[in-house]
Amino acid sequence: MARNEARLRQLKTELEKAKGTAVYYVAADLSTSEGVAELLQYVHANQWHVTYLVNNAGFGDYGPFVERSMEKYAEMLQLNIVSLTELTHHFARSMVQRGKGRILNVASTAGLQPDPYFAVYGATKAYVISLTEALHKELEHTGVTTTVLSPGPTQTEFMARADMAEAKLYAAGVMTAAEVARIGFRGMMAGKLHVIPGLKNRIMGFFSSITPPGHLRLAVAAGIMGKKNGSHATPAVH
Ligand SMILES: NC(=O)c1ccc[n+]([C@@H]2O[C@H](COP(=O)([O-])OP(=O)(O)OC[C@H]3O[C@@H](n4cnc5c(N)ncnc54)[C@H](OP(=O)(O)O)[C@@H]3O)[C@@H](O)[C@H]2O)c1
Repeated sequence: MARNEARLRQLKTELEKAKGTAVYYVAADLSTSEGVAELLQYVHANQWHVTYLVNNAGFGDYGPFVERSMEKYAEMLQLNIVSLTELTHHFARSMVQRGKGRILNVASTAGLQPDPYFAVYGATKAYVISLTEALHKELEHTGVTTTVLSPGPTQTEFMARADMAEAKLYAAGVMTAAEVARIGFRGMMAGKLHVIPGLKNRIMGFFSSITPPGHLRLAVAAGIMGKKNGSHATPAVH
């Protein structure tokens, strides 16, 4: 499931060749309700029972809140929160009916505390963490598990799409997508509650969890979310 059909088609060919298994895809935009409906319709038309759901699609937008576009934020809220919730709700229902299923929701270490200069993205991922952890408890004894994966900086197209070339976050070492995916997959299969890949990310997550909400935590987060060449200028709106 992604928007770029050519890349999906290529991936299908590669995976079918390498693994000898059938691969299906839907090319649609999950930041629209039409895109979500298209996916659900495809699953329904094929009469598939979905046993594993991975809500991975998401994006961020870096920079001072008042300088960035509200249109982009609305698209982000729709993709990172609304569509993820709709898909989780839809498939969790049928999984519970069948007494079997695994859901992996991809959040971020950005969701472990508020993030100045990445405020909306961090808030969407805090939502994903909260929702997925709550459902993990609600669904115990149903045969269905929900796992939340919170990666730190990872080598993908995310950084460029989020306009983060100037952020120092990615200068201090990143994990590969394959490493993160493997750890997330294992965590989902083991029915874990919350998986944070990488020791550095786990240590930062731990400190975030023991630092009380307030000015100190915000100051540390603002430092981490700073630019490579100094701090953000006072926001300007033209
Ligand atoms: N990379 C990081 O540093 C990092 C850290 C923490 C968490 N994460 C999270 O990890 C997840 C995966 O991101 P990534 O790092 O792999 O970024 P990415 O390289 O930009 O990949 C995003 C994937 O989601 C798909 N996608 C994006 N928007 C979509 C839409 N509107 N509808 C359908 N599919 C869409 C993209 O395909 P198309 O563009 O073809 O649609 C692509 O397959 C995201 O939830 C992100 O927030 C990333």
